[in-house]
Amino acid sequence: MLILGIETSCDETALSLLECDGNSENPTYTVRAEIVRSQIDIHRVYGGVFPAMAKRAHAQNLIPLFEELLRRATFYLEKPHAEEDLSPIETLLSREPGLFNAFKKTLPGIQKPPIDAIAVTAGPGLEPALWVGINFANALGAYWNIPVYPTNHMEGHLLSVLVHKTQKEPISFPALALLISGGHTELVLAKQWLSYTVLGETRDDAVGEAYDKVARILGLPYPGGPEIAALATEAENNNYPAATPLPRPMRDTADFDFSFSGLKTAVLYRVRKMQTLSPEERASLAREFQDAVIDVLTTKTARALTMHNVHTLIIGGGVIANVKIRNAFEKLAHTHRPLSLLIPDLSLSTDNATMIAAAAYLHIRTGAKHAHPEHIVADGTLSLEHR
Ligand code: KG4
Ligand code: ZN
Repeated sequence: MLILGIETSCDETALSLLECDGNSENPTYTVRAEIVRSQIDIHRVYGGVFPAMAKRAHAQNLIPLFEELLRRATFYLEKPHAEEDLSPIETLLSREPGLFNAFKKTLPGIQKPPIDAIAVTAGPGLEPALWVGINFANALGAYWNIPVYPTNHMEGHLLSVLVHKTQKEPISFPALALLISGGHTELVLAKQWLSYTVLGETRDDAVGEAYDKVARILGLPYPGGPEIAALATEAENNNYPAATPLPRPMRDTADFDFSFSGLKTAVLYRVRKMQTLSPEERASLAREFQDAVIDVLTTKTARALTMHNVHTLIIGGGVIANVKIRNAFEKLAHTHRPLSLLIPDLSLSTDNATMIAAAAYLHIRTGAKHAHPEHIVADGTLSLEHR
């Protein structure tokens, strides 16, 4: 079946057309077309994501990107622009007048593509941004009579590893997923697909958020993850003198929770104390921060692997774009053989709509019912456990 994925939970407007096949134990996926439009340039000015600006950009982007998506999938076929009663769509888009105008100008002039289902992110994320995607999904679904499935963004990150999976055998459970993004840090145990226990999560800042905030302290632009990673590599490659060690918050506690705000504050105090940082000192501090993050993440994950006799380790979320972190988990997996380690390709690590369509497919295959427009609600704190 062909699923249209829609993702607007943060600062990426993303759409995907994903061909889905196979059963829920061993799904197979083929990407027909996918688009990610980043808003980084808009938000960089503010040093972080500004929800009202994100919402506006999503509303402006969605229709042009949808047309482009259909073109890339060769599903864009024009038809004579017929007179139609669009009042039900106008009602569904009553909070998005700009989006409705674009819808009215565009949709009646194109033929219905062979989309079987629409998957849209309902949370977690920024609620104003989530609503734009939900309203668009409901409008498209009503217009073409296609069922709509609200989908959990974190489940998308978790299942993103299935999209390009090359091994033919199904995944061996229990699986442990470490999800690390700009908004979330959690360790999730899956006894099987769609059955999750959150073992622990961050009590304050998410890992990506800590990267972004530390980058700001060090005078680097948003998003800070790639900036810090580059400085850390520079320090390592040039053998700059090591920075004094930073704390490893909650690394050795018995639970599986995380805390990164203390680490960020430690960087802040260090910078204040040193007053002026030479470029080398700055790079070394970035490296020490990254080493502390890796130490905490790998130590906690290793403990969860042993405690729960895990067969498969999955790492998902934007922060896993970080090569050092990827390498650290490859090393960890090696010492826990025969553990199988699954990390999504770079393009599926950061926010995208392919993972949203992939997650919805498993729910559809296990009998999930589609949702009526009035029942789809943006939930900024949607949990993986209560769906
Ligand atoms: O998953 P994602 O695209 O969006 C959220 O759902 O939050 O993750 C974005 C986060 C940002 O905080 C960004 O700084 C971080 O991922 N990030 C990185 C790297 N690339 C992106 N963090 C560390 N190293 C990177 N190379
Ligand atoms: Zn994300």
